[in-house]
Amino acid sequence: MRKYHVKNAREIPTPALLIYKAAVARNIRAIGEMMGGYARLRPHIKTHKMSQIARMELDAGIDKFKCATPKEAAMLAAIGATDVLISYHMVGANIDRVVGLKRLYPDVDLKIIADDADNIRALSDACASAEVRLGAMVDVNTGMNRTGALPGAASLALARQIALSPNLHFAGLHAYDGHVGGNDPDVRQKTAVEAIEKAVETRCLIERSGLEVEKLVASGSPGFVHTQAVGEVDEVSPGTWIFWDTGYSDLMETPFQWAALVLSSVISATRADLITLDAGSKSIAPDTPEPHFRALGLPDEIAFVRRNEEHQLLQLPKGTPRPRVGDQFYLVPRHVCTTVNLWDEVCVIDDNGVFVETWAVDARGH
Ligand SMILES: Cc1ncc(COP(=O)(O)O)c(C=O)c1O
Repeated sequence: MRKYHVKNAREIPTPALLIYKAAVARNIRAIGEMMGGYARLRPHIKTHKMSQIARMELDAGIDKFKCATPKEAAMLAAIGATDVLISYHMVGANIDRVVGLKRLYPDVDLKIIADDADNIRALSDACASAEVRLGAMVDVNTGMNRTGALPGAASLALARQIALSPNLHFAGLHAYDGHVGGNDPDVRQKTAVEAIEKAVETRCLIERSGLEVEKLVASGSPGFVHTQAVGEVDEVSPGTWIFWDTGYSDLMETPFQWAALVLSSVISATRADLITLDAGSKSIAPDTPEPHFRALGLPDEIAFVRRNEEHQLLQLPKGTPRPRVGDQFYLVPRHVCTTVNLWDEVCVIDDNGVFVETWAVDARGH
């Protein structure tokens, strides 16, 4: 609790998203230690969406990135990232955006993913018209069942199609294992290993057909430790590790520390056991089951009574000293990625626990 206390917190208008720079730096160091360096790390920057954090990653020696939106990709290219994978399916007018980005930054190795033959044709045609060449990876469904071609023959067919498209470059395979989770480490490991085996078998099948699979990129925060142990995996792509949140920290032991908290004030306390905070669904993302945050200094047994856009009504367990209007609380989001996307800017807390500056969430949105 004390390590999150901000010495000049009273200078910060609430609600505010606080970024603890030292914790971010520690998380960057920790993942490097877990992976024996950054050569096989391609962090997903959708968690932070900030050029300032991407610069911290670049400065640490991380030289390749994953993102979800053209806006995130543009932000990365603008700060000098040279290897950017948009791990999201570009369709319709987004194809023009990504092609335009490649024209603007011809030296950036820009890659997209695809799982559909018509989409690959559309990408290839757009690249041909713009006289650019994009990397394209086959998105393989290894069990999450969200996107991705079936492993095996279906993925091979798409790989062949990409390889035969003159304005696309077959850049390998992408396999996100978002179904790896839960609080049982054995189940997490088993699910991650089963998933990556499907991707590796597909890789071997494609290579046997004579096509080179440049790289296999896989996994997120719960699975990457197991996935990176597989030799045929070139890169892992966790995102949440940079800020961490209670959604993951309640499930698994890792060296990662919470680095993004919402500072909130009590704005009403008219009844004995109820308080209203100024952190509603416009400050902390409500896209998980409750509780949407942990309030440091309050018992875990608080009841989430009601949430509106700018209000969060909490019921305190009996015996809890009653907070007063104006009291501040530090809230750890359950889902930090969607919480960050609610903010235009963040308040940066330095190594001494002092709020020193603000940073823009410059790739906020799409
Ligand atoms: C395609 C893709 N890759 C990687 C990640 C990173 O996963 P995590 O947030 O668990 O680190 C995500 C998360 O949504 C994702 O959608």
